[in-house]
Amino acid sequence: MCKKKRYLSTALILTLLMTLLLSFFACGKKSINVAEEEENSNLVVVGFSQPGAESAWRVALTDSVKESFTEENGYKLIYKDGQSKQDNQIRDIRTFIQQGVDYIILSPIVETGWDTVLSEAKAAGIPVIVCDRNVVVANESLYTAFVGSDFKSEGESAIRCIEDLVKTKGEQDTINIVHIQGTIDSSAQLGRSKALEDAIESHENWNLVYQDCGEFTKAKAREIMAQAITEVGAENIDIVYCENDEEAFGAMAAMNEAGIAYGDTNKIKVVSFDAISSALEMCMNGQISVEVECNPLQGPYIYKLVSRLEENQVVPKITYVYEDYYTGADITQDFIESRKY
Ligand code: AHR
Repeated sequence: MCKKKRYLSTALILTLLMTLLLSFFACGKKSINVAEEEENSNLVVVGFSQPGAESAWRVALTDSVKESFTEENGYKLIYKDGQSKQDNQIRDIRTFIQQGVDYIILSPIVETGWDTVLSEAKAAGIPVIVCDRNVVVANESLYTAFVGSDFKSEGESAIRCIEDLVKTKGEQDTINIVHIQGTIDSSAQLGRSKALEDAIESHENWNLVYQDCGEFTKAKAREIMAQAITEVGAENIDIVYCENDEEAFGAMAAMNEAGIAYGDTNKIKVVSFDAISSALEMCMNGQISVEVECNPLQGPYIYKLVSRLEENQVVPKITYVYEDYYTGADITQDFIESRKY
């Protein structure tokens, strides 16, 4: 009897111990979850709407923003790719508003058509930082700040380089230009195209022989260049003005296929924008004659702005990122290797 009692009390003690242990672990787990949730709720939530992933340049911009807005830095970044459609970007911004994000970063595919959705963000009290390309809205208070490129100035740098490239030619010699444009109505296209159009206007011997939109992609530019060669004839082309590196790669592919020589030592010169590493390599080797930089490392600039907004400080409405331009003589292998994109 006594023995049984002892067994019973041992079983009771064991059960009690097990219950205690289980509840200890259960409580421990619960407190870890709560801690995680608390930690997450302390993060500043940022929604980032990109127009797409059409170029290596854009991937570098995405990476730069992701590297800046990390959890270690106190941020949770929600990234959305608009698949090259403005409607998708508008839908993504609306989703950010519903999610109650703290900030929205918008890289707009085109300049216009944002008034309604930006008004919705403003009504929800969410500051919008426009990056890379700009927006044109009726009321500039619809966005807090812009960080990005001065595309007209990029185009003007390209024009000065073209003037240099053709300076050995006489004033009577016609300079025939093929113009492959970027996505129509994007700031990048508008600024770079405007600089070329103004230059054609002001240089009597500059002549636009072919123009089409390459959508900032290699595939489209390749088709356009092949068509230009057929319609205009390679002998009537001096400059191929490509509005980004992907388009330059496409134009060069079309010329390679047609067996047409181009580059620093040939009649046809390729001019391009972005200055991604592989294009700089081609510029150093003389295949591309001018590379105007478009700086995708905008994450740290935007991060600085958001940090200041977090401290209720006033931020500048417009910040242009630092950009340069290059010809083959300016580029070394060390320089290319030192770059992040
Ligand atoms: O808006 C910047 C432009 O967009 C870059 O030149 C191009 O590569 C990108 O797709």
